[in-house]
Amino acid sequence: MSLYERLGASEGIAAIANDIVENHLANPTIAPRFQNMKMTPEQLKHAAATFFITGTGGPEVYQGADMLSAHKGMNISALEFMAVLDDALSALAKNDIGQREQEEVLFILYSMRADIVLV
Ligand code: HEM
Repeated sequence: MSLYERLGASEGIAAIANDIVENHLANPTIAPRFQNMKMTPEQLKHAAATFFITGTGGPEVYQGADMLSAHKGMNISALEFMAVLDDALSALAKNDIGQREQEEVLFILYSMRADIVLV
């Protein structure tokens, strides 16, 4: 079964993405980053959901920027990157996603570090 299916397919992933963005908005390490962004929080939730859907083996629905273009010039620190990973893991746990799947998601997200941190 694809990671997409094990995360609950599009519906399950939409709920997870929602929780990830809500966690970011409540996380003091990174919340300020999401206060004057170009997109609204609702648009970011949609972008996060479609990004996960496409990136885990679901349909090709992501239409946003690549990770380098999306984060270039923001001067994101290693600490902020870790905060995003923490928020993703707690959202997965909250949605009853198993340890194995959490590790797979963590590995995928971590692999994007070079396109996001200090770019
Ligand atoms: C693996 C980690 C990350 C992933 C997968 C990720 C993913 C994304 C995606 C998919 C978008 C939407 C791009 C678009 O639709 O064009 C986005 C935008 C954004 N990301 Fe990330 N991101 C990550 C890490 C971070 C970190 C560490 C920060 C800073 C704390 C951050 C801050 C932002 C902000 C502020 C936006 C909105 C930019 C704007 O519209 O002004 N992201 N991210």
